[in-house]
Amino acid sequence: MSWREEAKRSVALRAVSELVKDGMVIGLGSGTTMVYVVEELAKRAQEEDLDILCIPTSYQMRYLALKLGLRLASLDEHPEPDLAIDGADQVDGRLDMIKGGGAALAREKVVDSCAKTLAIVVDEAKLVGRLGEKNMPVPVEVLPFALTPVLRELKALGALEAKVREAGPGKVGPVVTDNGNFIVDAYFGPIEDPGQLDKAIKALPGVVETGLFVGMTDLLFVGTKSGDVKVLRRG
Ligand code: 5RP
Repeated sequence: MSWREEAKRSVALRAVSELVKDGMVIGLGSGTTMVYVVEELAKRAQEEDLDILCIPTSYQMRYLALKLGLRLASLDEHPEPDLAIDGADQVDGRLDMIKGGGAALAREKVVDSCAKTLAIVVDEAKLVGRLGEKNMPVPVEVLPFALTPVLRELKALGALEAKVREAGPGKVGPVVTDNGNFIVDAYFGPIEDPGQLDKAIKALPGVVETGLFVGMTDLLFVGTKSGDVKVLRRG
């Protein structure tokens, strides 16, 4: 296993052991790190007979949680989950993030913003000085109907490049999100003011959500190359 894979596993185990308590309603982000989180959650739920409910942010998490025997709920029944645990693609020194590598950003932003505590689990290669550096795009979920005007407007907002994300093996054509929309990857380079850019993109008609998550993280669990886990708190 590579150090990054080990680090993902370590942060997942640490976050679940430190944060999850009996009786909690827990939002589940999406992605490969979250697979370790959900596996550990299911293990603890079974071994300790925990009464927990999970609110998934994607079909990936919904079917994994069901397969592992976790009980599901929705924001209609529990609009304020006790905790959400989620991954990220980049995190800066203020704990602001770029998310959406797995195209689940819209539901993730809803669930993460509703939770009393948001804990993010990453390996240290995802820490950056400025969001958008290392050629990391800002993913933007867009109504298919609005694709071409949104691509133009993203350029007008300063994107050096903006392109619709293509699906990988298993599907031809564009990625279609769990909400039936497209993902545009917009390359801005290092971003000076992520909050302002988030607002500007969100204001474009046809944009459903952006992958800039600003001022939301409460706790950051970072898995390091040396095998330790560091915990950072916002504030
Ligand atoms: C999905 C996400 C993921 O949290 C992000 O892409 C990190 O994924 P991984 O843990 O696989 O690196 O935002 O939309």
